[in-house]
Amino acid sequence: MEGMLACLRGWHPGLALAELTALLPDATLHPEASERWVRVSGAEEHQRHEALNIASGLQCFLDHGHVVFTAESTPEDWLKEMQTYLDQHPVKGSVAVRAWKQGSKLPGWSLSNLSGRLGGLLHDMGCAIDLETPDRVLALISDGPTASLACGWMEGDGQAAFSNGERRAGERPFFKPVSLDPMLARLAVNLAAGPLGRGPVVDPMTGTGGFLIEASLSGRPSVGIDIHSEMVQGAKANLVWAHDGEAPAHAQVVRGDATRLADSLPEDWNGNVAGFVLDPPYGRNSHGSMAADRLLESCLRSAREVAHPQGGFVLILPIHPLREHTTSSLPLDHDFAPLNGEWPALLGVIERCGWTPQSAHVERVHRSLSRLILHARCVPQD
Ligand SMILES: C[S@@+](CC[C@H](N)C(=O)[O-])C[C@H]1O[C@@H](n2cnc3c(N)ncnc32)[C@H](O)[C@@H]1O
Repeated sequence: MEGMLACLRGWHPGLALAELTALLPDATLHPEASERWVRVSGAEEHQRHEALNIASGLQCFLDHGHVVFTAESTPEDWLKEMQTYLDQHPVKGSVAVRAWKQGSKLPGWSLSNLSGRLGGLLHDMGCAIDLETPDRVLALISDGPTASLACGWMEGDGQAAFSNGERRAGERPFFKPVSLDPMLARLAVNLAAGPLGRGPVVDPMTGTGGFLIEASLSGRPSVGIDIHSEMVQGAKANLVWAHDGEAPAHAQVVRGDATRLADSLPEDWNGNVAGFVLDPPYGRNSHGSMAADRLLESCLRSAREVAHPQGGFVLILPIHPLREHTTSSLPLDHDFAPLNGEWPALLGVIERCGWTPQSAHVERVHRSLSRLILHARCVPQD
């Protein structure tokens, strides 16, 4: 099977897939052999480019991505197939081959040997090889867990524009243990708000500003709110730092109350907020303004009042660790054990506030703590 193949990256392929689904709402996505590959149809080039520019979990697209199970082929037969592939899908300009592996090596299939021989095929076809700045890159990816191999002309540079290396939470001028990792924060913003054009993003309990930094760096109009002035000052400093010393015009931090969002937002955002990213306080380090369950309910109600009809939220919730961790989404009726309150009651609160839970993912924080990442959308209005 060929067609556009999205290649996911990062620590949680299930979340990366949810993010991609949110960023390409008009596309149809079909699972492929590896949990890191997904067939994409119906996404226009500019939509794919936007996703490549802002996603946390998207590595690249492979145009005419060609996937084989190595058990069903041999390297020699595969190279013959690739010759046909290259004849059928020629490209203009200089080319290079780039190979990488996911998981363990595939016994009997040497990536360096195969990429050298692919380069040879391209050379024999008259292509100019340029390893430094090629116009097009032929990517070759092996997937250890499914013993399969994907190959195709790459869209995006495979490095992904998103890199958290330079702005890890601990490097920021204002750091607290509650600060979220940029990869998770970026993913949550995209999952909550969808494509850039849908509207602004609100982080109602911004703390050190982790979500706000990621929303603003993606070019999203965004507001971060916190009830404590120490957090407001710190998040402001972090925002300026993330934007190379200049306060961005499209993002701001304000002192306010997550339960009265309309008071803190520009008037014309009313009914237009595309996404809310919620990381409510818990534990000793991050005191809330009221009991955790009341704070969440009031915040969700307030968010619903200013949300766009297609708006969504992502809620990060500390939970007791699950017996087994998975990187796929879990059913909403799974027996999660939040640190605060009961899961079925929480689902009830979310629905009562006018939201429909969409998906739940879990990640491990440490031996005695996990995180639930819950995505919900507005209930359609009649
Ligand atoms: C867990 S922290 C958020 C951490 C944040 N995601 C980060 O990356 O730093 C929760 C924040 O909620 C704030 N908060 C508590 N009650 C609030 C309320 N009613 N309105 C706004 N902020 C509130 C706390 O001051 C705290 O900074």
